[in-house]
Amino acid sequence: MKKTAIAHANMAFIKYWGKKNLELNIPANGSISVNLDNLKSLTTVEFVEGLKKDEVTINGQKEVGEESRVSKHLDRIRKLSGIDLKARVVSENNYPTAGGLASSGSGFAALSVAASAAAGLKLTEQELSILARQGSGSAARSISDGIAEWLAGDTNEESYAYSLYPADYWDISAVVAVVSSEEKKIKSTQGHGLVESSPFYAVRLSEMSKKIEEMKEILARRDFTAFGELLEAEALNMHAVMLTSKPALVYWRGGTVEVMHRVRKWRQEGLESYFTIDAGPQPVLFCENKDVEDLVSRLKQIDMVKDVVVNKPGEGARLIEEHLF
Ligand code: PMV
Repeated sequence: MKKTAIAHANMAFIKYWGKKNLELNIPANGSISVNLDNLKSLTTVEFVEGLKKDEVTINGQKEVGEESRVSKHLDRIRKLSGIDLKARVVSENNYPTAGGLASSGSGFAALSVAASAAAGLKLTEQELSILARQGSGSAARSISDGIAEWLAGDTNEESYAYSLYPADYWDISAVVAVVSSEEKKIKSTQGHGLVESSPFYAVRLSEMSKKIEEMKEILARRDFTAFGELLEAEALNMHAVMLTSKPALVYWRGGTVEVMHRVRKWRQEGLESYFTIDAGPQPVLFCENKDVEDLVSRLKQIDMVKDVVVNKPGEGARLIEEHLF
C-alpha cells in the first residue's frame, strides 16, 4: 500500500532545548508551538516485496544505509505493525533542510503518518505524536492541528503533543526572515546534549513550568502584546543557554542580529511584531495579520534579508491522495 502525508514545520513559542532521555527524545520541559502553513514536507512511503534495503530519497538526493535516521524510524513502524518488508520513501520539503527551520519536525511527522498508514496501522493522534517524537523531538508537535502543547512526560507513553487551538483560532502571522542559507555546524540533536554544560540551564529549567502556564493563559485571552513579550524573552533565554554551552553554540549571523534590532525599533514606531529564533540563523517574526504587509515591505528593504516567507497557523499532519512516485 502506498501512502502520502503532508506535515508542516512548527515554530515554538516556548522552546524545547534539553532532553530527559536522549534515546527516546523525552524533553526536559514541555513546550508550545504553532504549525507554519507555508513550510511543509510531503512524504510517500511504500513497503515493497523483494527490496533488499530501504530506499530513501529526500529532496531528490538518495540516502543509503540501514543506519540512517529514516531507516531507524521505519524500524519502529515495522516493529509496531509486524511488517518485515523494506520501504521506498520519497520526501520533499519546500524549504531548505537544516537551516534552523525545523525541517526534521515536519519531515518525521509526515513520515510517521505516511509509513504507519502504509503499514496498515491505524494510530490515534496521540500515538502518532509519540511515534513522530522518537524520530525527531519537535516532530511530536507537527502532528497536531494549529497551536500545540507538548507534554514532557517521564516515559515514552506520557510524552506527546495535542492541539490547544485549531489553526483558525487567532489572526496572527509568522514571517520568516531568511538571512543565511548556510548549514549549521552543530545539529540540534547534538545541541540538546550540551545543555548541562551551561551554567544558566538549571535556572532556565526551574522557570519552564511557570512559563508554559503563563503562555497558555495569554493564548486563552489572545493578548498579542503579552504573547510577543513572552515569546521574545523566551527565545533569548534559550539562546543564553546555547551561547554559554561548552562548546558555545552561536546560531546567529549578522542578519539575525540586524533583524532583532530593527524589530525592536519598529515597535517604538508603532509596528508591533516580536521575534523568535530556533537553532539556526533565521528570525521568525510574529505579528497580527493587519500588520503583515507593512512588516514584509520593511523586511524586504534590509540587504541582509535574502527572502521572506509569510505563514499563517497551519493544520496538523494528514494523509493526502497525490503520491510522489
Ligand atoms: O526537534 P529538534 O531536535 O530539531 O529540536 C528543536 C529545538 C528547537 O527548535 C531549538 C526548539 C523547539 O522547541 O522547536
